[in-house]
Amino acid sequence: LNIGVLISGGGTNLQALIDQINKGNINGKIRLIVSNKEDAYGLVRGRLAGIESIYIDPKGFIDSKEYDLKIMEEFKKKDIDLVVLAGYLKILSKEFIKNFENRIINIHPSLIPSFCGKGYYGKKVHQGVLDYGCKYTGATVHFVDEGTDTGPIILQEIVKVEEDDTLDSISDKVLAIEHEILVKAVKLFCEDKIIIEGRKTKIK
Ligand code: GRF
Repeated sequence: LNIGVLISGGGTNLQALIDQINKGNINGKIRLIVSNKEDAYGLVRGRLAGIESIYIDPKGFIDSKEYDLKIMEEFKKKDIDLVVLAGYLKILSKEFIKNFENRIINIHPSLIPSFCGKGYYGKKVHQGVLDYGCKYTGATVHFVDEGTDTGPIILQEIVKVEEDDTLDSISDKVLAIEHEILVKAVKLFCEDKIIIEGRKTKIK
């Protein structure tokens, strides 16, 4: 399968995907990486891996719909079958989501439906977990639908919150789990092993 990846930041999830594909563990190929942030280190990771990696400046477009149409155009040129959001912090337009229905996978650093949706991204998620006094947190990979972090869940994995955990130690532990389950979900998708039933999924 041809994979297109959208990023906004450091790209450690992208790197995990690149590494597993290079090891031959995933029957897919990343054909294009697009970032909405010019300084996203994920662009450097893509280029180092020999993958076409481009920055598309949102300021060049009237609104999110026009921006996404540009990405859709670039993805069409590469015949993209699966879109992976790897630390992508821009909300997708409904046109984009409709165009790639049930073919957009997102990684979120919490056990959805906890600490997700508006305003919960990156470290804000982990701060919420710590402030609330949760004993466990984790990560979720899900299909993207019109909502924010609301699509059918594919995989989740838990992380224990220890008493001496800090914002950094929690985010490090969760990030490591993100890498594991994102790669596993993409592998399952490429092997056509994910069955969607309504808002739920089953793994063959
Ligand atoms: C991290 O907060 C991660 O939890 C979330 O996006 C942010 C950056 O991830 N998925 P990455 O290192 O850019 O993949």
